[in-house]
Amino acid sequence: MQINGATALVTGANRGLGRSFAVELLRRGATVYAAARRPELVDIPGVRAVRLDITDAAQVDAAAEIAGDVDLLINNAADTAGGNLITGDPRAIRSVMDTNYHGTLAVIRAFAPVLARNGGGAILNVLSAAAWTTVDGNAAYAASKSAEWGLTNNVRMELAGQGTHVAALIPGLIGTQTLFDFAEQQGIELPEGAVIDPADLVSVALDGLEAGEVEIFDSLGRKAKEYLSGPPTSFPFAV
Ligand SMILES: NC(=O)c1ccc[n+]([C@@H]2O[C@H](COP(=O)([O-])OP(=O)(O)OC[C@H]3O[C@@H](n4cnc5c(N)ncnc54)[C@H](OP(=O)(O)O)[C@@H]3O)[C@@H](O)[C@H]2O)c1
Repeated sequence: MQINGATALVTGANRGLGRSFAVELLRRGATVYAAARRPELVDIPGVRAVRLDITDAAQVDAAAEIAGDVDLLINNAADTAGGNLITGDPRAIRSVMDTNYHGTLAVIRAFAPVLARNGGGAILNVLSAAAWTTVDGNAAYAASKSAEWGLTNNVRMELAGQGTHVAALIPGLIGTQTLFDFAEQQGIELPEGAVIDPADLVSVALDGLEAGEVEIFDSLGRKAKEYLSGPPTSFPFAV
């Protein structure tokens, strides 16, 4: 997948990693639809802001209509709350699954025909090392990312016939406000040197996409995959 000349849509592009994706895609010569629940918050000159709550079916369909020239879909938006599975608020647990699994799937289903029309293109799903570990305080989120990994693998199989490359980005700890807030709330000391800058991660992700990789890692994500062959591990683990 060549980024220069591509037309990309990034979900959750108003802040955090999604915003970094939009900025770097633009810098590398892509046309960028920056999708956000509140498009008025998108502050990147040169992108096309699109209203998109990925849990709203009408907005998902409208986005696929508006952005009918997309050949790169970046599923970045996520509900990162949820708490633990036994003690958490059931509505928050359901919201995490509705957003991260069903919302992502809805966007993929809406854009699959768009990608097919535009030559196949690519999808990048932003997963997490949490998909392969346990996260005390955010178990609902971790489980939703496990489900999203399964979704990614199966969608890859289903879309291979139309020539759509489906990749996963598996980061560990990304230096966004959401991570810093979570760490503070939980009293977690983030391991020294383990937090990747969002802009650096985006560079790794887009280089990986251009190289045709199926799973793209930062160092913690790669370590989580290595741990998969052993007993379940908690996160963040020793680095
Ligand atoms: N930060 C980390 O340490 C870390 C580690 C591994 C993986 N990740 C993954 O990386 C991605 C970005 O994380 P981040 O730290 O940048 O998160 P973030 O700063 O909390 O941003 C989340 C984005 O998702 C959007 N969003 C939430 N629910 C949505 C919905 N229903 N429809 C559309 N947009 C929605 C938010 O929009 P609003 O502004 O409207 O809320 C926001 O733009 C996520 O997939 C996350 O799971 C993060």
